[in-house]
Amino acid sequence: MCGIIGYVGEKDATPILLEGLRKLEYRGYDSSGVGVFDSNKDQIVVRKIKGKIKDLTELIKNQPLSRSSLGISHTRWATHGAPNKTNSHPHFDCSKNILLVHNGIIENYESLKFMLQNKGHKFVSETDTEVIAHLVEEYYQGDLLVAVRKAIRQLRGAFALGVISKDHPDQLVAARIGSPLIIGIGKNENFIASDVPAILDATKRVVYLKDGEMALITKENVEVSTFAGKKVPLKVDKVTFSVDAVQKQGFAHFMLKEIHEQPDVLRQMLKTRLKGNQVCLEGLNLKDKELKGFTRIIVVACGTAYHAGMVGRYLIEKMTGIPVSVEAASEFRYRDPIVDKKTLILAVSQSGETADTLAAVREARRKGARLVSICNAVGSSLARESDGILYTHAGPEIGVASTKAYIAQIAMLYLMALKMSGFHKKISEAQRQKIIKDFKKLPVLYEDILKNKQKVAKIAKKNSHFGCFLFLGRNVNFPSALEGALKLKEISYIPAEGYAAGEMKHGPIALIDEYRAVVCIAPQSDVYEKMISNMQEIRARKGKIIAIATQGDDAIKKHANHVIYVPETNNLLTPLLVALPLQLLAYYIAVQLGCDVDQPRNLAKSVTVE
Ligand code: AGP
Repeated sequence: MCGIIGYVGEKDATPILLEGLRKLEYRGYDSSGVGVFDSNKDQIVVRKIKGKIKDLTELIKNQPLSRSSLGISHTRWATHGAPNKTNSHPHFDCSKNILLVHNGIIENYESLKFMLQNKGHKFVSETDTEVIAHLVEEYYQGDLLVAVRKAIRQLRGAFALGVISKDHPDQLVAARIGSPLIIGIGKNENFIASDVPAILDATKRVVYLKDGEMALITKENVEVSTFAGKKVPLKVDKVTFSVDAVQKQGFAHFMLKEIHEQPDVLRQMLKTRLKGNQVCLEGLNLKDKELKGFTRIIVVACGTAYHAGMVGRYLIEKMTGIPVSVEAASEFRYRDPIVDKKTLILAVSQSGETADTLAAVREARRKGARLVSICNAVGSSLARESDGILYTHAGPEIGVASTKAYIAQIAMLYLMALKMSGFHKKISEAQRQKIIKDFKKLPVLYEDILKNKQKVAKIAKKNSHFGCFLFLGRNVNFPSALEGALKLKEISYIPAEGYAAGEMKHGPIALIDEYRAVVCIAPQSDVYEKMISNMQEIRARKGKIIAIATQGDDAIKKHANHVIYVPETNNLLTPLLVALPLQLLAYYIAVQLGCDVDQPRNLAKSVTVE
């Protein structure tokens, strides 16, 4: 997800573009850039940098841009090509006549790049975006709109584009399919933007471009047409949201927005990583023979990523028979670990900048282990230091409490287990196909759970007074219990402990009384009856139980004070499902207690120090 802004009008474009980028920083912030038409030089001048918008602002302060009435800008969340100055937008064509910004993914960019290189085009970046700029140049014969129209017909994938040309200092061309783009209608000025917050300071009048539409924009006029050239009547809407609300797309908090993004995060992963029933681990950078050759796997991670790794252990061991250990990176790094070249180190990290995880993998590499990382931040330190990198592409996760990154990490571990299960025949092909079939159903099941979120909110409200929570789970949902406890404690500050349910009688049962709430994760599985026994022991001691159970399980109601249902699925997939009610429970309790859900006290989104 990236942020685009464009301006054509009578004011100086640069400050408008920078302010707009600041409002879109939630969409991506690993690098950014601005390009404006400089009428004194009769050319387009660009400033771009790796880093946050404040770094770009500082750069422009030190290297000012001339006053200009036309410009485009972009803040990036890297997908193709590491975050650096060269890969940041805007991108030029060869002649530096065309300048372009893009949000989305061009699926056929490699073949187009090859064709353009054969025609003599010279590329400077690794991005798919730059290909579009050269494609427009290829079709440009003086009419910018026509050249863009011809170029986008060659593109496959998702794109929102802003394009300018030094031959047309009064024109802005925009186009979109699969990525959002709006037009802001001002007085003697007009804007394009990825999202409303970027232009709200200037106007509340917007045109929401639809998929397959493009526009020719000057300071006085906006003409919308289809990609085929058919004119589209201008429909101007009035924005009623506040900037803050729109950045959260109407959700009260980024965390809630990101919880709701989870169905699409999974959909995107399934679309790009499961071709039919073939698992595609692009970026793994390991030959099948190498993958088969590992005799053990060590997962290293911290916090939520560590819990995802624990789920992964059950999956990989169950589906391949390879022994997996999961280590808190902060412990692993000091333990003088026993690793060799037959050990695969699997690092899991949303940010790819967690100091303990980086130190752990460096230690393992020093001892000769191979390293594959599962990471969300493209081009992060961890990504750069890994032999293979599996990007989750979950998009920027703004809420400090990890949600969509967690399920994306687990999903990637499923994909790895499925890939490796083909080598080790620990499960039958029929079982493998059944898991894949159930896996593909998950996004819809997510939506079912989210439809019932108000039931979770009610239960949360009724239980937000408890001063202590215990989370219990077994087998593949023991990590779910740990994660549920972490979610609650980190955003509500309520002491919460996750435990293997079988361990309850070895100590935690002393905690149970009417003043404690116990969350029991008890979907249908071969340990379900054991969970019911735990619940009976808790009820006998007046503990209050919130059960997470499989839809249709009425029997569990007599053992619990509240039941939150999830749809039925393959037992191995249940950690992906129960994660949602656990996230929602923590969220609504924290909201009920008036906590700062997105930026909980004492926490940072990425722990880059020890
Ligand atoms: C989880 O909600 C926390 N934000 C924290 O535990 C986090 O998972 C941990 O710091 C690891 O971060 P990483 O995934 O970026 O390495």
